[in-house]
Amino acid sequence: MAKTLLITGASSGIGAATARAAVASGWNVALMARSADKLEALEKELGAAALTIQGDATDLSAQEAAVARTVDRFGALDAAFANAGRGLDTPGTETGDPDEWRALVDLNVMGVLYTARAALPELRKTRGHLVLTGSAAGRRHIKGSIYGATKWFVHGYAGNMSEEMREWGGRCTLISPGMVDTPFFDEPKPDKLKPEDVADAVVYALSQNHRAELREIHIMPTD
Ligand SMILES: NC(=O)c1ccc[n+]([C@@H]2O[C@H](COP(=O)([O-])OP(=O)(O)OC[C@H]3O[C@@H](n4cnc5c(N)ncnc54)[C@H](OP(=O)(O)O)[C@@H]3O)[C@@H](O)[C@H]2O)c1
Repeated sequence: MAKTLLITGASSGIGAATARAAVASGWNVALMARSADKLEALEKELGAAALTIQGDATDLSAQEAAVARTVDRFGALDAAFANAGRGLDTPGTETGDPDEWRALVDLNVMGVLYTARAALPELRKTRGHLVLTGSAAGRRHIKGSIYGATKWFVHGYAGNMSEEMREWGGRCTLISPGMVDTPFFDEPKPDKLKPEDVADAVVYALSQNHRAELREIHIMPTD
């Protein structure tokens, strides 16, 4: 039977590319994001293997409802990809906007925790897999970067979840890309990674034999 992956931030960029790659590898995918129109277009493209779930990842009850709908539709949850994330319009601690920091932390930190919280009870049943989108910015210090600091949280949490999940046969993988050409940026980044490059890494991690947990895949553009 096909396995099932729930993806947050599935309406564009890395999340949408991962949905395509996962379906091409035989997975069912539940697509969560706020933009119903984009999700519905992707669902139409992917057919019966895809399910649109409009919702805000900063809302725990929305994430719990997404897991419930996924299991209701596909029968089980084998993997969850906490991928939704955002950057800041105004960088810097002295120059930045504290309200924007709050929104950043709500999504990049709390949203990731909510995906894990909502998914873990189902992942325990399948000895399943949690995948988190970190960043190259979560592995090295970047002058004054508050966005990067939220990704340092993701990197720390991913390792801690590997240690926790191994106790019941679960796995956790951290994906840490360098710059990827997605709508995350206002300008195209034609020389950088494509979202498909990251999607392939996610599917590679998911498709390993259960005895092998890829704890981190760090991908940098050659440029
Ligand atoms: N692009 C890069 O260079 C790069 C590098 C390293 C890591 N990353 C990380 O990769 C992840 C995906 O980013 P991307 O590059 O693919 O950018 P993207 O194309 O802008 O995708 C971001 C996704 O997150 C969703 N999202 C935003 N706020 C949300 C919310 N409150 N609730 C649910 N979904 C929400 C967006 O959909 P809606 O607006 O429809 O909700 C969209 O599907 C992020 O965690 C980002 O930090 C990106």
